[in-house]
Amino acid sequence: MQNLFSGIYKNKIVLVTGHTGFKGSWLVYWLTIMGAKVVGYSLEAPTTPNHIELLNLDIDSIIGDIRDLDKLNKTFEAYKPDIVFHLAAQPLVRFSYENPIETYETNVMGTLKVFEACKKANVKAIVNITSDKAYDNKEWIWGYRENDPMGGYDPYSSSKGCADLLANSYRNSYFNIKEYKKSHTTLLATCRAGNVIGGGDWAQDRLITDIMLSVSQNKKVSIRNPYATRPWQHVLEPLSGYLHIGQKLLEEKVEFGEAWNFGPSDEGSITVEEVVNHVKKHWDKINYEINKDEKQLHEANLLKLDCSKAHILLKWKDVWDSETTFEKTVKWYKSYYEENKNILTHNDLVNFIADAKVKNIEWAGN
Ligand SMILES: NC(=O)c1ccc[n+]([C@@H]2O[C@H](COP(=O)([O-])OP(=O)(O)OC[C@H]3O[C@@H](n4cnc5c(N)ncnc54)[C@H](O)[C@@H]3O)[C@@H](O)[C@H]2O)c1
Repeated sequence: MQNLFSGIYKNKIVLVTGHTGFKGSWLVYWLTIMGAKVVGYSLEAPTTPNHIELLNLDIDSIIGDIRDLDKLNKTFEAYKPDIVFHLAAQPLVRFSYENPIETYETNVMGTLKVFEACKKANVKAIVNITSDKAYDNKEWIWGYRENDPMGGYDPYSSSKGCADLLANSYRNSYFNIKEYKKSHTTLLATCRAGNVIGGGDWAQDRLITDIMLSVSQNKKVSIRNPYATRPWQHVLEPLSGYLHIGQKLLEEKVEFGEAWNFGPSDEGSITVEEVVNHVKKHWDKINYEINKDEKQLHEANLLKLDCSKAHILLKWKDVWDSETTFEKTVKWYKSYYEENKNILTHNDLVNFIADAKVKNIEWAGN
C-alpha cells in the first residue's frame, strides 16, 4: 500500500478538512494506510452514525470551524502540514436553499480562510475540492471542460462556483506558478467531481443514503426526479484523482496546479430510476414509490464532465464500472445493517487498488 502514488504520502503530514464527513473519512483511511501522518480539521461529524467513528483511526482530529481563521492558523502552526486536502463544506443542495448564508459563509469564506492559513504556513500543496455543480450548467448532453465558465443555479452550486473562482484568484495572485520558488512555495489545484456513492454516507437527501436507510427500516422510499441523469461514481474514484494530483504537486510539477475534472465514463451516467433497479439486484428488500410533487426545488437534471484532461495528462481513469460501484455500495450497507455494524471499507479499498493494478492505472504503480 505504501508504494501507491510513488510512495509520496509515507510520513508526510497531511491535513484534511472535512475528515468527519463521507469523502473525508475515506480519504483519511486511505492516507493512513499509505503511512501518512494525518491531521483532520472539521466540525463534529454531520451525521449519526458516521463513517469516521466506525473506522476508529489513530489520527489527530481537531474539531474546528473553517470560518475560524485564528484556530486554523494555530492548527497549521502546530502541525506544519506538507499538503492540505480541503473538503470541508456545506454540501447539500436542498439545505442550501433554506440556509444560503451558512452555505456561502462555509463554502466561500471558509475556503478563503483555509487558503489564507495555507499561505501563512507556506504549505507546499493544496488540493481544493469543489464540484461538477460549480459549472454554469446549460443542461446539454456534452461534458464540461475545465476551461468552461463557472456558474451554479442554487446556492450550493453557486457557492462551489465561487470557491473555484477564489482558487483561480489565489493561483494568480499568491501561488502563481511563474513565481514558484521565487516569492512563494505553494501549488494549488482544484478538483471537480460529481455525485459519489459508497458505504458510510448518511447525509440527508442523497439518493443512495435515503434508499439504504429506508431499506434498513423496512420503509418505502420516495424517489424524486426519477428521470434525472446523473454521473455515479464510487467515492474511491475521485479520491484516487485527488491523491494523484496531490502527488504531482508534492513532486513540484507546477503544471498540475490547475483545475481537474474527475467524473465517470458515459456509462456511469444513468437515471435515478435505473439506479434504484441496480440497487434492487443486490438488496431485494427495497420498496419505493416515485414522488411526483410538482413543487420540487430546482435540481440539475443533466450534468456531465469531460475528463479528457485527467485521462491524457494524468493517465487517470475509472476503476469500477457502474455495476460494480452499485454492488460494492449496497453490500457495504447490507453488511453494516445485517451483520452487526461490520464495515467493508478495508475490503473495498483493497479490491479497488487490486483492480486498478489490473487496469494498469498509473497511480497504482505496477
Ligand atoms: N458527496 C458528493 O457526492 C459530492 C459531490 C461533489 C462534490 N462534493 C464535495 O466534496 C466535499 C466533501 O463532501 P461530503 O460528501 O464528504 O460531505 P459531508 O457532509 O459528508 O462532509 C462535510 C464535512 O465538512 C465539515 N464541515 C462542514 N461545515 C464546516 C465548517 N464550517 N467548518 C469545518 N468543517 C465543516 C463537516 O464536519 C464534514 O466533515 C465537499 O466539498 C463537497 O462539496 C461532494
